Amino acid sequence: MAPLAVAPGVTHWPGYLDAAEQVSLVDELREIARQAPFFTPRMPKTGKPFSVKMTNCGALGWVSDESGYRYQPDHPETGAPWPAMPARLLRAWEELAAYPHPPQACLINFYEPTARMGLHQDRDEQDFSAPVLSLSLGDTAVFRIGGTVRGGRTISLKLASGDALAFGGEARLAYHGIDRILAGSSSLLPQAGRINLTLRRVTKPSG
Ligand code: SIN
Ligand code: FE2
Repeated sequence: MAPLAVAPGVTHWPGYLDAAEQVSLVDELREIARQAPFFTPRMPKTGKPFSVKMTNCGALGWVSDESGYRYQPDHPETGAPWPAMPARLLRAWEELAAYPHPPQACLINFYEPTARMGLHQDRDEQDFSAPVLSLSLGDTAVFRIGGTVRGGRTISLKLASGDALAFGGEARLAYHGIDRILAGSSSLLPQAGRINLTLRRVTKPSG
């Protein structure tokens, strides 16, 4: 399907992954989660747990705990390096990111039907010239995105299983979050819930 221009810098590709690609990606993610189990991130300082569970694949993974948000090359609980990024994710980046260097991190979020994510900016990367590319699997989410200042106007759109969304350029630091998950809207996953993959470039490419 043709991409939809949601707002300047925000592009939505409904149904980017077909049904068979979604199934095989879930299989690959199951193997990744065996090697790098989902963990519950905690808020900096307060240690309050997030409602989403996370893991990562790729050279770097995003983690959050009492000492802050950061990228690191190893799992915070097992100490093992993150598993490699599946080829289909690297291809999604090549096809959609319009950025000449590969992604370094893929954050894997699992949302139970009651989980949500408050409005925030993705700003722990050194390179904001690459977009953030997100892929959705499982139950549909109500996603919200606004401008680069907190408290401004926002719009919401539904992200269904197989959808891709990129925010870059003037939207790279846009506030965004997940209002809610529409439990039972997809039968891709064995349980209700949603997986979101966010691919990111972390460091500035050298040379
Ligand atoms: C995120 O901002 O990390 C996740 C967004 C999403 O779940 O679509
Ligand atoms: Fe984010």
